[in-house]
Amino acid sequence: MSQDAMKKAAGWAALEYVERDSIVGVGTGSTVNHFIDALGTIKDQIQGAVSSSEASTERLKALGIEVFDMNSVSELSVYVDGADEINHQMEMIKGGGAALTREKIVASVAKQFICIADGSKLVDTLGRFPLPVEVIPMARSAVAREIVKMGGDPVYREGCITDNGCQILDVHSWEITEAKALEAQLNNLVGVVTNGLFARRGADVLLLGTPEGVKTVKG
Ligand code: 5RP
Repeated sequence: MSQDAMKKAAGWAALEYVERDSIVGVGTGSTVNHFIDALGTIKDQIQGAVSSSEASTERLKALGIEVFDMNSVSELSVYVDGADEINHQMEMIKGGGAALTREKIVASVAKQFICIADGSKLVDTLGRFPLPVEVIPMARSAVAREIVKMGGDPVYREGCITDNGCQILDVHSWEITEAKALEAQLNNLVGVVTNGLFARRGADVLLLGTPEGVKTVKG
C-alpha cells in the first residue's frame, strides 16, 4: 500500500468526527487535502470551515465549501490536521508545509484535535524531522544564534515565505524528550512567531493509516 493511500484512508476516516451543521477546523498538507476532498462530499451538511492556510482555503473554496474568518468563530468542535511526526504522548512536530502558525491558532479554539497521518509519522522520540520555527525576517539570524546555544542546528528554509510574510528556520539534530518545555522556551525567544512543537495542545485522536487499515489511537 502506498504512503498516499494510507494518507487518503486516514483523511477519509476523519469524516466520522465531523458534526453535522458545524464549522470545521481544517489543517494543511497532502493528508489534509484528502480530508478536504472527503468534506466536499458532505458540504451540504456543514456550515463551512475555518482554514489554516491559503492553500487549504483555495481547495475548500474550489469544492464550494464556505471559509469563515477565524475572528467570527469562537469555538470549533473539531480541528483536523496532519503531522510530520507524532509520538505516543500525542505530541507533534508540524510545519513541514510552513503553515504552523495558523495551524496552531485554529487548533487553539477546537474542542478536539484529530490528527490524520500515515504510519511513518508515528515515532518514539520527536526530532528526526527538523523542527520548523517561524521567525520575523529581521530576527532570523538572532534567533538562529539563540537556538545554537540551546543545542539545535538551525537551517534557513530558503525561498520560503509563510502566509504571514515570515521565514522558517528548520532545526536539525534535536532529540526532543521534553517537548512541552522546549515549545515554551522557543516561544520565549524574541522574534519567534511560533514553533512547530504541538505539545501543550497535542492531538486528542490519532487516525493512523496503515497497510492493515486505519488505527484509532486516543490520547
Ligand atoms: C503543514 C503541516 C502538515 O500537517 C505536515 O507537514 C504533514 O504534511 P503531509 O500531510 O503532507 O505529510 O504541518 O504545515
